[in-house]
Amino acid sequence: MVSKICCIGAGYVGGPSMAVMADSSPGVDIEVVDVDQQRIDAWNNLNGASLPIYEPGLQQVLDRVRGHNLHFSTDVAGAIRRADMVFLSVNTPTKHRGHGAGSAADLTFIEKAARQIADSAQGATIVVERSTLPVRTADGLRRILDCSTNARFEILSNPEFMAEGTAIDDLQNPDRVLVGGQCDATVNALAGIYANWVPSSRIITTNLWSAELAKLTANAFLAQRISSINAIAGICEATGADVEEVRRAIGADRRIGAEFLKPGPGFGGSCFKKDLLNLIYLAEHYGLDEVARYWRMVLDLNGWSQKRISQMIVKALFGTLRDKRIAVLGFAFKADTNDTRESPAIGICRDLLHDGASLSIHDPRVDDGAMRSLLSMSDDGLPAVGGFEKAASVETACDGADAVLILTDWHQYKQLDWADLASRMRQPGWVFDARRGTNLAEAESHGLDTWQIGRGGMN
Ligand code: NAD
Ligand code: UDX
Repeated sequence: MVSKICCIGAGYVGGPSMAVMADSSPGVDIEVVDVDQQRIDAWNNLNGASLPIYEPGLQQVLDRVRGHNLHFSTDVAGAIRRADMVFLSVNTPTKHRGHGAGSAADLTFIEKAARQIADSAQGATIVVERSTLPVRTADGLRRILDCSTNARFEILSNPEFMAEGTAIDDLQNPDRVLVGGQCDATVNALAGIYANWVPSSRIITTNLWSAELAKLTANAFLAQRISSINAIAGICEATGADVEEVRRAIGADRRIGAEFLKPGPGFGGSCFKKDLLNLIYLAEHYGLDEVARYWRMVLDLNGWSQKRISQMIVKALFGTLRDKRIAVLGFAFKADTNDTRESPAIGICRDLLHDGASLSIHDPRVDDGAMRSLLSMSDDGLPAVGGFEKAASVETACDGADAVLILTDWHQYKQLDWADLASRMRQPGWVFDARRGTNLAEAESHGLDTWQIGRGGMN
């Protein structure tokens, strides 16, 4: 019977997932620990800090459990010592140096956390992989954990499938929960906790390696759908077809399904790129070169989806962006999050700056410190050429702008007042809609030229 849980890593996964678990499992006491004191203070809302991540519904869940059966602290060793079950929710970025740089997962944080568990755990302890990991990581974990003299371990793989922006709903009503392990009793111990709020038909149990691989596979398939629809959007623009109509037509086919077929400026977020790279590295490691090339194309297409937007803008604005002002609407990688990791806006804005543009960037949740740290350097590490500022409102972003570029699918951009915005812009003005989220007919009626992703220009 598990009564004490420790979660190492208080990030986008650790925080919300433990909050939902605590909310639905009053008999379990959960300590979420992190080495980052500032992050922990923010989770505790200390000194007026707001939560470290923006996620709809999160504050309400926290209000019910924080200080009751959910605690945030930096006492990593103490929390491990007290726990029957330790969740590993640390970050697993792509390696930037050394062997496998550019595609292998950097398991430094996993290894460090495993060593901390080996040092501090007492008695029978279940270690649960929550981070997304290369297949067979549990082998390496076991070797480290076996060095412990005070504890014995079982390892489970329980990858998380939530998406940012919908994390609370995804966690409260998951399509499925996956628990992989080698020992039935241990698998059942974790499945039993999820059974507090997830119907048993949605709790899937597998062997360890299938669970590890299923997570990478899910993200690869999702990313592949986005690259596929973005490729078709390009063909639509060239031929006069409309990607929204194509999407409706193919999404109605139950074999294909309607989700994850929205065209856009390419996928961002902390997971898709690194998990695809992880899968590519794995395929190469096992000598499956064609398999590696197949998945690499999904990434290449994503790079094209981003690059073509800045190229098209330069072309439309007479070949140069010098002395031109562009209002960028949205900097987060998707709506309802403040996360900018791998946001398509980063590369697109860097390209526009490189061409000399002056950017006025609006985003309801991303602060200007985050924008500054991502945009003060260009891709080649040189200081950016053009300038940028964070705009307090959509209206101020558009004041004097030559073009408006919509990059994030924030709900508020669906209701833009084009009569007002057009009157603030310099003419001839352009609207580039990379999300199919605004009423472009209205923008056109106020004299603006328009481009919309996947909308064919030919009749
Ligand atoms: P994150 O960077 O937001 O959080 C990770 C946290 O772990 C950081 O706060 C870091 O300080 C902490 N940490 C690292 N090493 C530590 C240690 N030894 N002791 C204590 N704390 C330590 O990362 P995230 O977005 O929460 O992702 C975590 C994992 O979950 C990754 O493997 C990711 O691929 C996976 N995942 C992420 C998402 C998502 O939407 N972000 C969804 C599903 C799965
Ligand atoms: C993703 C996975 O969906 C989730 O299951 C996994 O656990 C973590 O990685 P996340 O990156 O948070 O979640 O968001 P997601 O909704 O998947 O969006 C990723 C990117 O794809 C965003 O940039 C989004 O704008 C883009 N996207 C998504 C599209 O361009 N079109 C779509 O139809 C869907």
